[in-house]
Amino acid sequence: MKRSIIITGGAGFIGSHVVRLFVNKYPEYRIICLDALTYAGNLANLKDLEGKPNYKFVKMDICDFDQVYKLMKDEAVDGIIHLAAESHVDRSIKDPFTFAKTNVLGTLSLLQAAKACWEPGGWKVGDVPCRFYHISTDEVYGALEMTCPEGVEAPFTTKASSGSHHLAYGRDFFTEDMKYQPHSPYSAAKASSDHFVRAFHDTYGMPTIVTNCSNNYGPYQFPEKLIPLFINNIRHRKPLPVYGRGENVRDWLYVEDHARAIDVIFHKGKVAETYNIGGFNEWKNIDVIKLLINTVDRLLGRPEGADMDLISFVTDRAGHDLRYAIDSRKLQRELGWEPSLQFEEGIEKTVRWYLDNQEWMDNVTSGDYQKYYEQMYGRR
Ligand code: NAD
Ligand code: DAU
Repeated sequence: MKRSIIITGGAGFIGSHVVRLFVNKYPEYRIICLDALTYAGNLANLKDLEGKPNYKFVKMDICDFDQVYKLMKDEAVDGIIHLAAESHVDRSIKDPFTFAKTNVLGTLSLLQAAKACWEPGGWKVGDVPCRFYHISTDEVYGALEMTCPEGVEAPFTTKASSGSHHLAYGRDFFTEDMKYQPHSPYSAAKASSDHFVRAFHDTYGMPTIVTNCSNNYGPYQFPEKLIPLFINNIRHRKPLPVYGRGENVRDWLYVEDHARAIDVIFHKGKVAETYNIGGFNEWKNIDVIKLLINTVDRLLGRPEGADMDLISFVTDRAGHDLRYAIDSRKLQRELGWEPSLQFEEGIEKTVRWYLDNQEWMDNVTSGDYQKYYEQMYGRR
């Protein structure tokens, strides 16, 4: 089947992996990457796709209803995979308005444009059934208790679960039917956008799907997030600002495994359903940081662990969620998705990528990457 799909936020971290997967896997589809190129959007993340006949980049703000509507009409769009968002918790604490605007009003603007285009055709474009797929986060569920602070053998396993360390730090997990209890302005805005998406299904019959994923890691992540920031700091022997005592737990998934889940769910997921995405791979921050130090040191030919003294405990993040842990068994059971990469292998691959792509990192940290658009597409 031929399809015409908009992927919003496609120049960001996860979006760029999703765009790459769809462009390469589905040459018969038209893939339109729609991105406003905020500080987090970088066309260098998609450099290898330039010139592909089924790929198009459009610089656009999702909040601009008229432009989005026109693009959807002009391109006869039948699917939207919506990743565009403000995504960093620390920024949301300083500037919640921007998060409400992009994550809530931006999502509403996309929903309205899709409704205006699709509803008159019975939620079909020609013979193709429409899909509005909203990518959300596990943070909307709030924080889990840490009832097993030393860790117990995790009750479920996936390929992502670490070999040396397969622990759970509590007995409960985020399931799809859990109550929303967001704590940060970021997660409150994402929660609100999830509610709008479901409301468009329940009120107008729009064919929507929502997924909530755990922490992603891998190439092309903006170095304000823990893993790329710390890899770069270890390389340059700069302090590693660990919030609190580094006891918070996150559930890590390799970004390409998230992209593969998005592919499966877009094509086979049931309308109006929610799917949680994660690999049962819980780690305390301090243990991830020690693994990063050992890996960077080893790959740079330094004695392993030589840079442990860079660890610097700093004031905790306000409202810092203690533990996230996703139960992804519904997705595994119903759609057969499984992560493919074990955590230590994924970290090794990720560290190598950042060390081998120092130019990408230097461009991002200096802001030079934002000139790339003009070089590629000229002034607008
Ligand atoms: P990111 O910050 O790396 O990328 C966001 C992208 O959205 C950027 O390219 C940016 O330019 C674009 N964007 C921002 N505002 C826009 C606007 N108004 N109009 C058009 N484009 C705009 O984010 P990410 O980490 O890749 O996250 C992508 C999505 O996945 C987000 O919705 C996030 O909530 C969700 N998510 C992220 C994680 C994670 O661990 N990173 C986990 C689960 C869910
Ligand atoms: O759970 C999914 C979420 O994961 C996504 O929805 C968010 O978009 C994404 O940013 C991520 O949120 P976190 O807040 O968990 O990610 P971050 O990389 O900012 O932080 C990971 C953990 O590391 C968190 O407990 C805070 C801590 N941390 C982070 C930074 C940047 C530090 O200790 N020091 C730091 O400098």
